[in-house]
Amino acid sequence: MAVAKEKSSRAPDPGPDSLGEKFGPVAIFLHWAIAACIVLSVAFGLISGFADSAEVTQATLAIHQSLGVTIFVLALVRVVWRLTHPVPPLPASTPRSQKIAAALTHLTLYLILFALPVTGYVGLAARGRPVTIFGLFDLPNVVSRSIKTSAAFQNVHNNLQYFLYGLLVLHIGAALYHQFVMKDGLLARMWPRKAPAAP
Ligand code: HEM
Ligand code: HEM
Repeated sequence: MAVAKEKSSRAPDPGPDSLGEKFGPVAIFLHWAIAACIVLSVAFGLISGFADSAEVTQATLAIHQSLGVTIFVLALVRVVWRLTHPVPPLPASTPRSQKIAAALTHLTLYLILFALPVTGYVGLAARGRPVTIFGLFDLPNVVSRSIKTSAAFQNVHNNLQYFLYGLLVLHIGAALYHQFVMKDGLLARMWPRKAPAAP
């Protein structure tokens, strides 16, 4: 199936210094779906924290936790996909330090995509609160009740957001630097392909 192909067979040989090869459509879809869910989840999480009314807090938290669990699932799919499909290589001329920095940022981003939902879930479940997904079903509660555990995980959850923001500043900053300063087309690697021109 064309969708399952991670590398473009149409791409011409990019040469040693070029970023000609792209991520495949599945990786690109997952990247932008996760990015969109992150933006929405953070927005709803913050609104729930700052809202004065209990109803707004409850409603926004319900959406927040549903999006958070969706992120967990999408990140899991992304990791499985990544481990089973090759990632387009960076050009051979990329400095080793830059390759290591990119790999570390990406690895940490993946870790935080799991750590945020898990800490959020334990924070609620340890208080005996149901974790309802888009009003459809509750996740099973696999955590024993403890206010202390709940408070500790909630605290870690709330603080991890700053770690996420820092990583995203680095990540998006690097993408924009490549795009507008180095002009090497890195962003195109993660951008949906244009439809092939009609013959
Ligand atoms: C907002 C949440 C975002 C998250 C969680 C995120 C996460 C990631 C991760 C984990 C990777 C590594 C992919 C892999 O090797 O498997 C990646 C790659 C990439 N991201 Fe993001 N990203 C986000 C937003 C953005 C934005 C806003 C941009 C553009 C301005 C961007 C541009 C890129 C590019 C260009 C790559 C490919 C880098 C390469 O070619 O090696 N990302 N992203
Ligand atoms: C990647 C996914 C997630 C992100 C980025 C995220 C981020 C956030 C943010 C930014 C806040 C606001 C913290 C503040 O008020 O300073 C928050 C609060 C909260 N989140 Fe998440 N979260 C995620 C997943 C989850 C999940 C899956 C759950 C539950 C199953 C959850 C439960 C909560 C709860 C209960 C609060 C309110 C905390 C409080 O009352 O102090 N979160 N989250």
